[in-house]
Amino acid sequence: MAILVTGGSGFVGVHTSVELLNAGYDIVMFDNFSNSKPEALKRVYEITNKNFRFYEMDMRDKEKLEVVFSENTIDAVIHLAGLKAVGESVHMPLKYYDNNIHGTITLIEMMKKYNVKKLVFSSSATVYGLQSIVPISENFSLEATNPYGRSKLMIEEILRDLYISDDEWGIIPLRYFNPIGAHESGLIGESPNGVPNNLMPYITQVASGKLKEMLVFGNNYPTPDGTGVRDYIHVTDLALGHVKAIERLMAGVTGVNAYNLGTGRGYSVLELIETFEEVSGRKIPYTIVDRRPGDVAICYADPTKAKDELGWAAQRGIEEMCIDAWRWQINNPNGYESVLELERSWV
Ligand code: WQD
Repeated sequence: MAILVTGGSGFVGVHTSVELLNAGYDIVMFDNFSNSKPEALKRVYEITNKNFRFYEMDMRDKEKLEVVFSENTIDAVIHLAGLKAVGESVHMPLKYYDNNIHGTITLIEMMKKYNVKKLVFSSSATVYGLQSIVPISENFSLEATNPYGRSKLMIEEILRDLYISDDEWGIIPLRYFNPIGAHESGLIGESPNGVPNNLMPYITQVASGKLKEMLVFGNNYPTPDGTGVRDYIHVTDLALGHVKAIERLMAGVTGVNAYNLGTGRGYSVLELIETFEEVSGRKIPYTIVDRRPGDVAICYADPTKAKDELGWAAQRGIEEMCIDAWRWQINNPNGYESVLELERSWV
């Protein structure tokens, strides 16, 4: 019996796989390495000393997907595979709809064929769109402001319709706020291709000298210091949220229940920069520039529902997120630079 982790070699994928293995689950992973590297899988083994099975494939490849489900007894699926760059999605909407939505439908159809009806889905706070009230609760209105967010919202709606058609399904969309940081070992972390889109990997690369300075996207928002406020959550806390969701599904809970994975606390861009400078001892030079199109002023979670129903709450604070992100950066200045030829099966 095993948990299938789609997108298993990605930033959230490897951290979630580590916590699943630590919790005693057998896991099977697949990934197409479109935004990750095989080296990350070696690190998962180094951290856990646990075997797992990995398949290099794209989730839209029905034949390879059939192999995964026929060669393994899958209990439940944690579906993380997907494209996730907001800016890129605006320029290439069809790439996002084909990969994220077509891919998810292909996966669900294979799950149905093998009678696997337990699914944890990687959703995003982006499905809340432009909210005028914070903190944000799961019953707030849903809207999308870009194709990436729309793909996540559409998939949530597809999953709700799937449950209406068959009430044996247990489905948990997890709405991530802003995952940052890295595993305490410094062996796995965020390794974006090219210049980082997101704030924390940009900060760590400025701190290490790899990039010259931060560009702060606007300081005229209606926030205490004028810069954007977000709910940053340690990626290990996020990973542990997935373990709790799987526990709930394995206990037999059906239906579609979405949960916010956030800390419930917002920090501004300048607060994060200041905290990082304190923990790293490095100065982060920055220049204030224009707002980034599509950004909201403030976004942070009300995490009560996850606490009450999943028994989960974030434990790690902003300082620990910065310390762990910095350790990852200085130990791996170029991310997972060595791409080793890996056995495709680890069992
Ligand atoms: C955070 C804050 C920026 C970079 C996105 C996706 C979301 C999720 C997380 C996938 C904002 C500011 C950033 C920089 C800056 N991704 N910033 N200079 O946009 O909140 O969320 O990533 O699931 O779906 O929307 O994260 O890290 O890009 O930005 O000033 O170089 O930092 O304006 O206020 P965001 P982010």
